This record gives sequence, structure tokens and C-alpha cells, in this order.
Amino acid sequence: MSSSSGAVGHIPLAVRSAAPAAGLLSGSGRSHQSLVTFTDVRVVDPAGGRDGAANVIIEGDRVASVGRESRGLRIDASGLVLAPGLVDLHVHLREPGGEDAETVASGTTAAAAGGFTAVCPMANTQPVADHAGVIEQVLRLAREAAMCDVYPVGAITRGLAGAELGELGAMAAVGVRCFSDDGHPVQSAHVMRQALAYARTWDAIICNHAEERTLTGDAQMHEGIQSDLLGLTGWPREAEELMVARDLILARGLGARIHVPHVSTAETVALIRAAKARGTRVTAEATPHHFTLTDQQVASYDPVYKVNPPLRVKTDVEAVRAGLADGTIDAIATDHAPHPPEDKEREWSAAPCGMLGLETALAVTITELVRPGVLTLPDAIAALSTRPARSRDIVGHGGPIAEGTPANLVLFDPEERWTVDPGRSHSRSRNTPFAGRELWGRVHHTLLRGRFTVRDGESVTPGDDDEIGDA
Ligand code: DOR
Repeated sequence: MSSSSGAVGHIPLAVRSAAPAAGLLSGSGRSHQSLVTFTDVRVVDPAGGRDGAANVIIEGDRVASVGRESRGLRIDASGLVLAPGLVDLHVHLREPGGEDAETVASGTTAAAAGGFTAVCPMANTQPVADHAGVIEQVLRLAREAAMCDVYPVGAITRGLAGAELGELGAMAAVGVRCFSDDGHPVQSAHVMRQALAYARTWDAIICNHAEERTLTGDAQMHEGIQSDLLGLTGWPREAEELMVARDLILARGLGARIHVPHVSTAETVALIRAAKARGTRVTAEATPHHFTLTDQQVASYDPVYKVNPPLRVKTDVEAVRAGLADGTIDAIATDHAPHPPEDKEREWSAAPCGMLGLETALAVTITELVRPGVLTLPDAIAALSTRPARSRDIVGHGGPIAEGTPANLVLFDPEERWTVDPGRSHSRSRNTPFAGRELWGRVHHTLLRGRFTVRDGESVTPGDDDEIGDA
């Protein structure tokens, strides 16, 4: 067994951040002389086609071997799964401008605690990341303080206003691979088509928050029986489906790449499935809340369940699960959307949309999809790591785990139960919809280029002597 204690754990306490992360284009990574072997671990590596027991040797920032050998410090990892570090295509780190909710440091500390080694923060910061200056600022913050690699998403339009394109070329030149006005749909088909055409120049990806605003207006929740009962304005499912259909048609016509974020309805899954069958260059993601929770939760009027797109109904949840199972939906992404209590804990109609997700995604996936048999564990790792990395052209994450590859890894116990305690989150915010839930699957270690960002379930404080071989 590993050195961690207890069958029922908690998210460890927050610690200061600042760490070994590199980030987009920096490709750094300090040289280490360290050497460690995780012995008798279950290696789940979808990219390498491996699921089986092995000893895994880490030397410096790389995997040195996967096999029977052991060298250096030996850490008994029997009972643990070793997988490529998780990759989140959709997070909100709020910096610059929203530091009361989250920072690059706090958000990436939460990410590492959840087993992530790479995250893609959205552009709805203040100022908006619609030009290279803000992208470079986020990259600098990441170099100084991030606990995982950071691949910023650039805005599609100036100020997220939907009218004029942002400086896509300048952002692409500093490494941006994906553009999104997340939270703000691009309403104009003309602007969307322009964005797809420009992005195609760099083979970059457009990710549009799909919401036909003429149908949603001041909607408060999913439109259906529940919204009628609760007296809240409804957000009809067609608002998502119409815009996804439009975007798929536009992307197909141009041969451009499109990514559909936070898929929430059965018809959206069907549209993406059909588009993939026709060869459209589309990828898609689903959030843990959309494959787990329904609009029934809204009956509490607790704004922690307020999110955009809204929680739907059971048939949608089942369709999203089926989409993940058959690969129509490529990735599980959290849409980690921190909001400070003074904003979120208000009456329903005044509260902002969004939920935390980084620290619970792996465990919710294991509990809700792997244990009930919707996904195998390798399929779950593919959706949480390998496919998101590939879909965003992120190199060095997502596996394979083999000699010479960067040691961006997570080790977790899929059988260990713990209870979600928002008070112990590493996020600056507390708005998790899974508070009090008992979940299976707990992260023991996260490694970024061979250095622990989480060790024995605890975040590694930067400056700690965290060389892997220094036990
Ligand atoms: O619920 C949401 N919150 N959905 C979004 O698209 C944006 C996000 C946020 O930024 O808080």
C-alpha cells in the first residue's frame, strides 16, 4: 500500500502556491538528479495501450522505465493507479481581475490536488484575454506561481462582445491553440464564420459557448416541468442545440476545427455524433455536473446549483453518459467556475452561474461512471487526460507513459473513499455542488515533470525540498 493514511480522507488543506510549473511554450523544467521507483503500481495508459502492474522508474523530469526494474527510492504503490496527469480543457482561473474568486496560483493548486497537470483557462478575465498582452500576463503568472501547466484560451471577439474579432493572430503567435468567448455565445453567424476561417489558418480550434440568446433571455434554469413548478424562467434545450447545429455546419463548410464545450442535452450529443460520422472536425466535452446532476437539485433554490448551461433532466444525463461511453464526447472538462461566497450565496436570481470542479472531477468520474460500469477506468483516463491533450495539441501530457516521456503523472487509489469538504478546498471559492458527498477515488501523488505537486495527498509547498528522490 502507499504511504497515505486512512480509508476515508479529505481534500487536504490549502497551502501556498508557486511551483515548478512551466506553461505554454516555456517548456522549462529544472534539471534533477533524482531517482525513484513506484513499485507494483497499476499503470493505466490509454495512449500506450497499457493496463497492468509494473514498476515505474522516474529519473529527473522523465519516465526512465516501465517494467520490472527498480532503482533509487522505492515507493510501494500497490493498490494505486498510475496514469498520465489529467488535462482540463475548460477552467476559470479568474486572474487577472477576479482574484477574490481565484488566482492562477490557487486554481492550479486545486488542479494539482485533483490530479491535473495541465489546464486551459478561459478568456473571461478582466481585462479580457482578447489580445496577446493578457495571454502573456497569464503565462507569466503561471511561470511564477502555477502548480500545473497552463494553456490559456484566447477570446474570439474583442471584449467578448461578439462583434469584432479579437487579436487572434497575435494570440496564436504566442501559442494560443483555442479561442472561446466562454460564457458569451457568438451570436452572429458571420462573426463565427470569420473566426473559424481565421483559426483555420493556424489549424487552431474555435470553442463557442452554445446559447441562442434570443431563446434564453434572463433564463434562470432548464426549461421544463421543474422550472414551471419553481416559477423560474426556463433556458430551453433548443437554445444550445440550434447553435451547435449552426456551428457544426459552419465548421464543416470551412474544414475548420470546432470544440463544443459543456454538452448538456441529448440532441446536442446526437448532433455531434452525426457530425463526426460525416467527418466534421469536431471535438466535445462534458462536465461532471452535467453527467451527474439534474434540475431536481434546483428545488432547493440553492444557487450552488446555478450553472450555464443549466442542469438538465435524467434523459439528458443519460445521453451525455452514452456520448462519453461511445466516444462522441471526447473529454471530461470541469468548467471550474469559482465565485466568492458574497457573490454566490445570494438569492437564486441574483447569483452568478458556475461551480467548482477541479478537486472532485476524478472522484465524481470514478463514482458515477466507472463504478456503475458506464466507462472502464482506462476509458475514464482517456477522457480525463489522453483525449483532451490530443484534442488541444498539448504535447507532453496525456501519455504515453514510456521511457523518455515527461513525468506528468497522477497516482490515485480508485477504491478509497473520502467526503467532499468545501472548507478544505484549495480554491479561493467554496461553490462545489458535491459538498458532503462521499466519493470513491483519491489522489495520492501528482507529479509535474518529475516533481511532486501533491505528495501523499498533500500539496507540496513551493520551496519544499520536493525533488522526487528526497524522501
Ligand atoms: O456557469 C458558468 N460559469 N458557465 C459559463 O459558461 C461561465 C462560467 C463562469 O465564468 O463563471
